[in-house]
Amino acid sequence: MKKTGKKTRISRRVENLAPSGIRAFFDLVLGMKDVISLGVGEPDFVTPWHIREQAVFSLEKGDTTYTSNKGMPELRQEISRFLHHRYGLKYDPHEEALITVGVSEGLDLAARALLNPGDKVLVPEPSYVSYAPVVELAGGKAVRLRTTLENGFKITPKDITRAVTKGTRAMMINYPCNPTGASYSREELLEIAKTVKKHNLLVFSDEVYDELTYDFDHTPLSSLPGMRDRIIYFNGFSKSYAMTGFRLGYACGPKDVIGAMTKIHQYTMLCAPITGQIAAREALRNGARAVAEMKREYKRRRRFIVDSLNELGLPCHLPEGAFYVFPSIKDTGIPSLEFAKNLLTKKKVALVPGVAFGKSAEGFIRISYASSFDNLKEAVRRIDEFLKGK
Ligand SMILES: Cc1ncc(COP(=O)(O)O)c(C=O)c1O
Repeated sequence: MKKTGKKTRISRRVENLAPSGIRAFFDLVLGMKDVISLGVGEPDFVTPWHIREQAVFSLEKGDTTYTSNKGMPELRQEISRFLHHRYGLKYDPHEEALITVGVSEGLDLAARALLNPGDKVLVPEPSYVSYAPVVELAGGKAVRLRTTLENGFKITPKDITRAVTKGTRAMMINYPCNPTGASYSREELLEIAKTVKKHNLLVFSDEVYDELTYDFDHTPLSSLPGMRDRIIYFNGFSKSYAMTGFRLGYACGPKDVIGAMTKIHQYTMLCAPITGQIAAREALRNGARAVAEMKREYKRRRRFIVDSLNELGLPCHLPEGAFYVFPSIKDTGIPSLEFAKNLLTKKKVALVPGVAFGKSAEGFIRISYASSFDNLKEAVRRIDEFLKGK
């Protein structure tokens, strides 16, 4: 917790929230021209046309109202059908599913609905930057759950057991993972599930990159025996369907949890935007082909970028999913923020320094390959020049 020492009218909770250590870095990116940006976690594809067309058509028809607080019943039914068909999951669309403004809102609602002041939540490191702030804004305490390159940046049962103390209520997990691309096989998840049960933890399972799993089938944690009642499953449309701007996600879980989340959502958000909901319904009904095409292209880029970085002498494991690689820059001896700043100013390539994802991610950089093949080739050429000091 940061002590400011001076009087402020900002709430202690927000005042004490650690500011993002790389804000100044991104301000620098914004002010520069002709930068190849491999920094953002956003598909470079435009939302498939048939999805946009349904959104446009709905606006032409005048569908511009609020929807039910929980989201359009037809969309919830579509989600329930999709999850059943895809993963064998059974969620009642009326009581166990909530449409949210992205996974972002879902995470916030779950934290506020479930945590009492001081409750501890295990947050993997490195992980998506919003997890710890969401826990702390809800009055909880984020406890670091360190993952390492040696374990492929995966949480292990041992890590969990070591991190659990009195007052640990929940654990966050995200797979495929932003920023490392790590994911888990069913066997690995079964081991994690056993440990989660042993410590009686709730799990926030952020599976927003599920469709972008390249080498094996994605397994939702909630599909494993005896897990359903302790999992809040988060998913959305931003990544798989390239729909970040529609701001659409959903949370599924036990009735009491979804009910409590809905209570907060109805007062603070009222409902997710109707245009996004209509687009999302179309995505689930007819989007499979477009998803498969985007996935094929990401997979091609993944191979290229991993091979290229290893050839340049930046050791890089093959990530199992998402659209990020997380190479080590330890051999260069340059701290990650300095590496990123220098690469940006000298060669106009933007990427994210590992330290943005927690102290233990120092010595790594995150590169998003949600960028065209030509961009990636040019970026590799520039990184090569940068490393050779040209
Ligand atoms: C792991 C992870 N979870 C959630 C989000 C936010 O997703 P949404 O657009 O659905 O709010 C992101 C966005 O980068 C992410 O990487």
